[in-house]
Amino acid sequence: MPVNDSEYKKYLSGMDIIGDIAIINIKSEFLSKKTLISNQILSNIKNIRSIYQQTTGVTGQYRVKTLSYLSGVDDPVTIYKESGCQFLIDVSKVYFSPRLSNERLRIAKLVQPNEKLLNMFAGVGPFSIIISKYQPSCQIIDIEMNPIASEYAIENYRLNKIKNITSFCGNSHDIVLSKLSSDFSRILMPLPEKSIEFLDDAISMINKNGWIHLYWHLNSNDGDVLTNCNEVLNKKLDNSCKISSSRIVKHIGPGWYQIVFDIEVNK
Ligand SMILES: C[S@@+](CC[C@H](N)C(=O)[O-])C[C@H]1O[C@@H](n2cnc3c(N)ncnc32)[C@H](O)[C@@H]1O
Repeated sequence: MPVNDSEYKKYLSGMDIIGDIAIINIKSEFLSKKTLISNQILSNIKNIRSIYQQTTGVTGQYRVKTLSYLSGVDDPVTIYKESGCQFLIDVSKVYFSPRLSNERLRIAKLVQPNEKLLNMFAGVGPFSIIISKYQPSCQIIDIEMNPIASEYAIENYRLNKIKNITSFCGNSHDIVLSKLSSDFSRILMPLPEKSIEFLDDAISMINKNGWIHLYWHLNSNDGDVLTNCNEVLNKKLDNSCKISSSRIVKHIGPGWYQIVFDIEVNK
């Protein structure tokens, strides 16, 4: 099987470029040629220095992909740039997706001056840092359970000269109960596999009025996806919460979607 210039795409089922690292998914029928394919990618795409194969989806409580080194320099740490900010990331040890860039910008543009925000699942800090750049008068609290991601987040605040984010490393449920007060105007819940389990914590942390941005993986096989998903969430909301809008962030598999719900809270 020859792998000609830029022909590599047909051997892949996906590719993410994070800084100067390419993470590729090779179709199973071409796995025996993975080194050949990856060497071709390395010579075809400018500014790529390392290629890793993704061998699992995001797994475990820290939502990390398992990667296997293929070509170039074997160093999984890179700097990724988005919305005028830069992020130091070890792609083998923390969650990161460049595919959420539009969503991060959308949220940053919703935030008003002087808001108090809580990001319950902060990762290496991309949502909070971009928000902070747009609204430096805000006060932001980040919580992240993966100690390595939390350390990268602190490094990323420094890299981006951020002064208005405080971070806690630990389980959001425990930190909310033990360290924070109910005085937030906006809460981000970017853990789509499990956010729903923390919804009561989030509602309890909103000052009288505010917003919750809940990310959730939901299944919808027939009819209108968003109508179906709104119906599922509505069954879990009390009278203080109203879905203001919802949208599909990404299609994640047959019948499965990542949905973001913008929920207005009025207590
Ligand atoms: C899907 S990632 C999103 C990270 C980040 N917001 C981003 O967009 O890159 C979810 C993050 O939540 C963290 N996490 C999972 N369970 C948690 C919990 N109970 N408390 C705090 N963080 C948690 C994971 O380690 C992971 O970094």
